[in-house]
Amino acid sequence: MDERSLVLKYILLPNGGKIPTIGLGTFIDNQYVSEGSDGKLAIAIRNAISLGYRHIDTAWMYNTEADVGCAVKEKIQDGTVAREDLFIVTKLWRNFLSHDQVSKAFHRSLKELDMTYVDLYLIHSSTGLKFNSNPRQHYPDVDDYTPYFDDVDYVDTWKEMEELVDAGLVKSIGVSNFNIQQIERILAVARHPLSVVQVEMHPYLSQSDLLQFCRKRNIVVTAYSPLAWGGQPLPKPPAPVPLNENPTVKSIALKHKKSPFQVVLRYELQLGVAVIPKSTNQKHIHENFHVFDFKLSKEEMRDIASLNINYRLLDQHKFKGHVHFPFCDEEV
Ligand SMILES: NC(=O)c1ccc[n+]([C@@H]2O[C@H](COP(=O)([O-])OP(=O)(O)OC[C@H]3O[C@@H](n4cnc5c(N)ncnc54)[C@H](OP(=O)(O)O)[C@@H]3O)[C@@H](O)[C@H]2O)c1
Repeated sequence: MDERSLVLKYILLPNGGKIPTIGLGTFIDNQYVSEGSDGKLAIAIRNAISLGYRHIDTAWMYNTEADVGCAVKEKIQDGTVAREDLFIVTKLWRNFLSHDQVSKAFHRSLKELDMTYVDLYLIHSSTGLKFNSNPRQHYPDVDDYTPYFDDVDYVDTWKEMEELVDAGLVKSIGVSNFNIQQIERILAVARHPLSVVQVEMHPYLSQSDLLQFCRKRNIVVTAYSPLAWGGQPLPKPPAPVPLNENPTVKSIALKHKKSPFQVVLRYELQLGVAVIPKSTNQKHIHENFHVFDFKLSKEEMRDIASLNINYRLLDQHKFKGHVHFPFCDEEV
């Protein structure tokens, strides 16, 4: 294995820590009840840790923090890893952006995780929703969210996130689903580094401006939905073919004797980002981690980059009109 491949396994963070570039995503649609230690997610996380994954991505909104906590505890107890070997990420949901909610919401997450600190805490979205007394009701039960928009300024939320770093409860902080202007507003006041920006990114959504901006500002980018949802049909017309059926990706995969999804993940790693593919399938979890033993050429990188069509999978249309809506320049 060449040195460059080894370097790709971690990216340094401003606080001197490092983020493992391959993480396991844990968003499972409609998971509203933790399945516990025998559930498919906990099994997947334990398998992933045994295979070498050290970065796990969860969020209050996914309702998977308890499963992450329970799987991690078992892998620590069986001696596979120590807590400090792992990089655990969770996120502050939209209902808790106001200054009096941030610490309470964080402590709820910490309790679900059954941990004493998290490695990275992200503001999940810039678009707040009014606080609801049931913290598990993530969205209003109506089609029109407009009356529930909360225009709380995420810069004030950020200041509360910094308090969590001061208290030693969080090692790094960052944001998710923010645009460049919103990130700049935070950078203008930040006492602690904005270490990571987590955004949707895959060959159909290159995020090249954001990537360039983050490189200049020493911010690590984590790509979510890095496989553009695997082999599932893509939702909005004009939908491109799933990446494993894309002829460019397929021919590069054939040449390297790798799967199309391994090529996609390798492409993203070579762009200098971390990736968090979700899988509960043992074979896929294994496949997604084995992307360090080959290298894409400049031409192959360029060919994959040419697939960009700014195609966003995440459906945000219900937040259009929110004062802090981040994707104003796009059809969503
Ligand atoms: N910050 C945010 O707002 C945000 C938004 C969305 C997602 N995320 C995070 O990012 C993670 C990943 O994103 P995502 O789940 O939307 O999409 P994704 O990782 O691009 O795709 C997940 C899909 O791909 C399949 N898959 C995974 N590896 C595969 C392989 N090697 N071959 C074939 N199929 C494969 C999975 O099925 P199997 O389980 O059957 O393998 C699953 O259906 C989430 O779980 C979450 O942690 C963050």
